[in-house]
Amino acid sequence: MKRKSAKSSPPNRLVLGDNLPVLQAMETASIPLIYVDPPFNTGRRQARPRLKTIRDDAGDRTGFGGRRYRTTRLAEPADTPGYLDRFDDFLGFLRPRLLEAHRILTPTGSLFFHIDYREVHYCKVLLDEIFGRASFQNEIIWAYDYGARATKRWPAKHDNILWYSKDPAHYTFNLSASDRIPYMAPGLVGAAKAARGKTPTDVWWHTIVSPTGKEKTGYATQKPRGILERIIRVHSNPGDTVLDFFAGSGTTGEAAARQGRSFLLIDESPAAHAIMLKRLQPHLPKPVPRKPALRKPKTTPANPAVASSPNL
Ligand SMILES: C[S@@+](CC[C@H](N)C(=O)[O-])C[C@H]1O[C@@H](n2cnc3c(N)ncnc32)[C@H](O)[C@@H]1O
Repeated sequence: MKRKSAKSSPPNRLVLGDNLPVLQAMETASIPLIYVDPPFNTGRRQARPRLKTIRDDAGDRTGFGGRRYRTTRLAEPADTPGYLDRFDDFLGFLRPRLLEAHRILTPTGSLFFHIDYREVHYCKVLLDEIFGRASFQNEIIWAYDYGARATKRWPAKHDNILWYSKDPAHYTFNLSASDRIPYMAPGLVGAAKAARGKTPTDVWWHTIVSPTGKEKTGYATQKPRGILERIIRVHSNPGDTVLDFFAGSGTTGEAAARQGRSFLLIDESPAAHAIMLKRLQPHLPKPVPRKPALRKPKTTPANPAVASSPNL
């Protein structure tokens, strides 16, 4: 599909609150790309301990150049940002939100739904019902290789990203805008092709967010920006707005801003909101100083369940 020229985008926005009423208030056919990474229904609280690794000759780990290191825990998971990931009726929670997502998408828009092996099959059936089976385009496997390895079954080291287009035949797919990946056997394809690399398939190898890298925000379940940037480059056009209504640490927002798109991010967790505010500060509109009120306003206060960021 042809790319549109860049247009002026609406301002970037963060919303703190349950996503359902926010979605219900949004205009029909107004958003060209939605990415969501909801809770996975793992049955446990999602949070990370805060760790610090320091050089220590008496440490218990060996690192680069044979140096010894020791890791200390600065905070336990119960005291770090996170959320309870347990639902009695997971599909009952998702259904009204995904119905709204379908309504909000533009006629050529797409939904990317990020989940894992526990619930992917049930979610696919639900999405087939909402979008129609013909609108299912791909199941992208994000494969990584990090962390403990199960020894009683194959270690699960992938997530599933289901792509649905609103219209089965008309959707944004700018494959030429994708990053390219190295050939597995570059010697077989010639120097020019090997240097250019090839377009990805539906299996995306990408490292997780490094626990010690610059990208890390400390939010449990933070997804790598590289995955989001690929989706945004190929499935939207410059100036488009990308919506993420389970936004967490705001990875979608950062990726959208880096790719010249605007973002609308919703999350109900104050901890997630605080991380997003800090991470996305350079991309948010500056707060407008309020004039002092002369008289008490007669209007009722805004619904606290759909509280907007002070940056709006
Ligand atoms: C898997 S995390 C998203 C992580 C994100 N992709 C990132 O890279 O940081 C899921 C998020 O959904 C949020 N959430 C769960 N239920 C919600 C609801 N009803 N409305 C808004 N946000 C919700 C949680 O607070 C959590 O931050």
